[in-house]
Amino acid sequence: MPDTLVDRFGRVHTSLRISVTDRCNIRCFYCMPLENVQFQPRAEILTFEEIQRLVRVGSDLGIRKLRLTGGEPLVRSDLPKLVKRLRDLPGIEEIALTTNGILLDKLALQLKEAGLDRLNISIDTLDEDVFERITRRRSLARVLEGIAAAQEARFQSIKLNAVAIRDLSEPEIVPLARFAKQQGLELRFIEFMPLDADRAWDSSQVLSGEEIVRIVSQEVGPLVPIPRDDPAQPATDFAYTDGSGKIGFINSVTQAFCSACNRMRLTAEGQFRNCLFSTEEWDARAILRGGGSDEDLRRLMLDCVDHKRSSHGIDSPDFQPPARAMYQIGG
Ligand code: 5AD
Ligand code: SF4
Repeated sequence: MPDTLVDRFGRVHTSLRISVTDRCNIRCFYCMPLENVQFQPRAEILTFEEIQRLVRVGSDLGIRKLRLTGGEPLVRSDLPKLVKRLRDLPGIEEIALTTNGILLDKLALQLKEAGLDRLNISIDTLDEDVFERITRRRSLARVLEGIAAAQEARFQSIKLNAVAIRDLSEPEIVPLARFAKQQGLELRFIEFMPLDADRAWDSSQVLSGEEIVRIVSQEVGPLVPIPRDDPAQPATDFAYTDGSGKIGFINSVTQAFCSACNRMRLTAEGQFRNCLFSTEEWDARAILRGGGSDEDLRRLMLDCVDHKRSSHGIDSPDFQPPARAMYQIGG
């Protein structure tokens, strides 16, 4: 049996995205339903001990980078304690977190002190009314405070993530790009993917990275492409020619980057997935709670990666979105 997480297409998996909760304090339409959100009962969610055990087994199989996601990871109580536990595992080189920023004001410093290296903060607009249309909450001011708190905490890297949606995001592009440039932060636009709980996604709502590059280079400043330093990095980066920073594009729909994917995922209730768009899951919780061995967990992870498909197939006519929405999988 191999001792690394290599799939049938030769992709070596070194990165694990861990959802720590399916709960969230806002309701972005591209992720959650407005009403009747089906949260998992607390007892179904992995404990910190269980997550730590899975990561330890994963690190023996070559996992080096972790990203904590949700739902909104900061609504999970005591999250800095989990960061500390994971930080102490040998083999783990980097821990990152993706957050909506609302609770960062309180938690940024504790997270940094616990050993968190990198932070991605989601912000799709700088206009409170547009923010409310997207998230069904009025919390933009708190997100901005969260960004400021993160900057003070001096993480190794802070990136801003904006999901781009046609007919909604166009007016937001230039203000967001200017804001990021002024703050010295890298902004990344993410194409809208079919992971919304309401199943309202339609390819006509995808505002492509290519279109945004054109708008930013005309209105904010000329851009030149930068070669990828890590082939598994999903973003295509550009630099402003005046040296004022970078901007990235995660063109998950129009330019799938599946061929270089090195990521696997763990849902909050302990199911491994080999892709955001997997239709199958590998049940680690049953092993954890059924008295299984580390060897059982190793086999499960290897089997999960072995079944990974070559690509997500969003553009194929028989594409079926996964049964679960983004908040249930982990962003
Ligand atoms: N398409 C693209 N990005 C999404 N995100 C959540 N749902 C979607 C979707 N349907 C993003 C969030 C955040 C990260 C967790 O994933 O905005 O940046
Ligand atoms: Fe919450 Fe993130 Fe989903 Fe928005 S995208 S509802 S912030 S989990």
